[in-house]
Formats: sequence, C-alpha cells, structure tokens
Amino acid sequence: MKRILVTGAVGQIGTELVTALCERFGHERILAADIRGGGKNMPGQFVLLDCLDADRVNQVVQKYDVGTIYHLAAILSATAETKPLWAYHVNMQTLLHVLDAAHKFGCSLFVPSSIGAFGPGTPRDPTPQDTIQRPTTMYGITKVAAELLCDYYHTRYGVDTRGLRFPGLISYSAMPGGGTTDYAVDIFHRALREGKYTCFLHEDTTLDMMYMPDAVRAAIELMEAPADLLHHRNAFNVTAMQFCPRELALEIQRHLPDFEIDYDVDPVRQAIADSWPQRLDDSAAKTEWGWAPRYGLQEMVIDMLSQLRKRL
Ligand code: NAD
Ligand code: SER
Repeated sequence: MKRILVTGAVGQIGTELVTALCERFGHERILAADIRGGGKNMPGQFVLLDCLDADRVNQVVQKYDVGTIYHLAAILSATAETKPLWAYHVNMQTLLHVLDAAHKFGCSLFVPSSIGAFGPGTPRDPTPQDTIQRPTTMYGITKVAAELLCDYYHTRYGVDTRGLRFPGLISYSAMPGGGTTDYAVDIFHRALREGKYTCFLHEDTTLDMMYMPDAVRAAIELMEAPADLLHHRNAFNVTAMQFCPRELALEIQRHLPDFEIDYDVDPVRQAIADSWPQRLDDSAAKTEWGWAPRYGLQEMVIDMLSQLRKRL
C-alpha cells in the first residue's frame, strides 16, 4: 500500500491529522515530515523535509512510495504580514514543488485554503462558495494563487488535487503557528493557567471558526470522496461555528466563572480579521461530498477545557 505524506506535520493541523491518519490507515502507512524536528514523538514515521528543496521533495515521495500528500507547510497570516516576501516565497515555492512531485509520481494532493482567501470586497455573512476574491494580505494572495494552481494541475495534468477553505481552527495538541485566529486557542491556555486573557482582537470581531476534530475529519472525508462528485474540488467552503471574543469569553465563563478578559487591540491583526468572512456558506461541501460539522461553540468549549485540564 502506498504511503500518505503530511508536510508541515509538526504544526497545529499536522499534529492532529497525523494521529487521525495513523488511526485510520495504520502507523506504517503514514509519513510525517517537517522542516523542524519535534515530530519524533508522533505516531507513524517522521522525516525532516524542507519543501523549498525540490530535489528532496521528489526524493522523499519516491523513496517512501508516497501515493497521497497532505501539504500543510506554510506561513500563516499574522507572521506573513511581518515578512511578506518570505511568506510569498515559502507558500508558493513549497506548493509548486509538491504539485510537481504529485504530477511526477501520480499522487493525490490535499492543499488547505482559508477564510484568508477572501478580502474586504467579499460578502462576509454568508460568504458564497463562488464570489469575489481580492484579499489584502500576503497570506490571502498566496491562498488564492494556491487554489488556482491546484485547479491548473488538475485540468492541465490530471493531478487529483483537492482542498478546503478552513475557518480559524481551535485545538489543544499544538499551539497555532502565527495566525489571526490564534486568540481563540490562546484564550483557553490563559484561562486555565492565569484566569485572565488580554485579547488582540476587538470584542465584537466575529469570525468563522471550527474545532480541529471537525477540520481533520473534513480533510480526510474530502480525500475519500468520489472524484466525479467534486465540482469545487480545490476550494470548498467549510464552516462549523461563528463567534466574537466576547461570546467566546462568556462561554468559557460558564465553566470558569472567575475568568476575566480585557482587550489590547493589535491594529495589524485587527485589519486582517476585519477583511475576513464571518460565516462561510458551506452548501457546496454539503451537497457535493456530504460535509457536516459535529462541534458547535458549546461542545467545543467543553472539550477544549477538559482536554487542556488533563495536559496543563
Ligand atoms: P502551522 O504554522 O501550525 O504549521 C505549519 C508547519 O509548516 C510548521 O510546523 C512549520 O515548521 C512547517 N514549515 C514551514 N516551512 C516549511 C518548509 N519550508 N518545509 C516544510 N515544512 C515547513 O500551520 P497550521 O495551522 O498547521 O496550518 C497548516 C495549513 O493549513 C496552512 O496552509 C494554513 O494556511 C492552513 N490553514 C490553517 C488554519 C488554522 O487556523 N490553523 C486555517 C486555515 C488554513
Ligand atoms: N487561522 C488562519 C490564520 O489566522 C486562517 O487561515 O492565519
């Protein structure tokens, strides 16, 4: 059986995706890879892999007989605004190397897009599946380009590329990697450790969000869906819940009544958030491959607090 390669596997999504793939397909079929170590304690096999090195990407795909790639290596929105040219280079070049390897070696390829692929000219609630995409962040520019490149490799070369536009993702296994929605993870750590949190977004900034178990399941389900059902194969809107920092804090206070939140707004991340969707219309994902979220705000908060209590 061919192996499943996860690039950027030590990150927020990869940490949980690798575990889920190992449970589903067996440890011997999963190859986790990242530019940084830290994956050594992951289930499955781990290799160091800088996806900027095209030869090494090809070598790994060939040597380990890879049949499916989940390409998660990327620079996220807030970090990208601090080093835009570097973020463009990493996000585009790593993708091109992986697309090329998928083409050469006949692999299926999952590439995540994001709510960041939309901009201030897009309807925010709901954001249609097919709509204006004029993002104002470097991260968003790379996400739109990635959606188009994946379409191109599918139509031009027949590569089985697929992708989801993820909302902000909330999880407990790994810390988020420099995004605008990171507050929705940090808040839980601070609530349990210190009983208070200073939020870098305004209290009323509503964004689309999803709990990681739903995100991981969505990626795997999309990769398993019959190809002939997928009309929007590289950029399905998916959603699970919508909230602003004040509403998340209120939900946490139902379990930790002494928890306090205050605000020290970061203008850069606030501007990014203000340009992003509040709610994605996920009807295409529902219709084409049966997407359905399982966690809303209340279920997510209960599970996050219980999982983090065990870990902290
Ligand atoms: P993350 O920052 O937590 O992890 C990214 C990983 O990529 C890191 O472990 C990093 O070491 C690795 N990496 C960076 N450069 C690399 C390179 N040259 N070669 C190999 N590995 C490299 O990010 P994440 O949250 O896990 O996101 C993964 C993907 O999902 C990204 O494309 C991101 O844009 C997308 N996404 C994430 C979210 C979210 O909320 N986390 C939402 C929407 C989309
Ligand atoms: N959570 C991601 C970020 O904030 C969205 O893609 O960058």
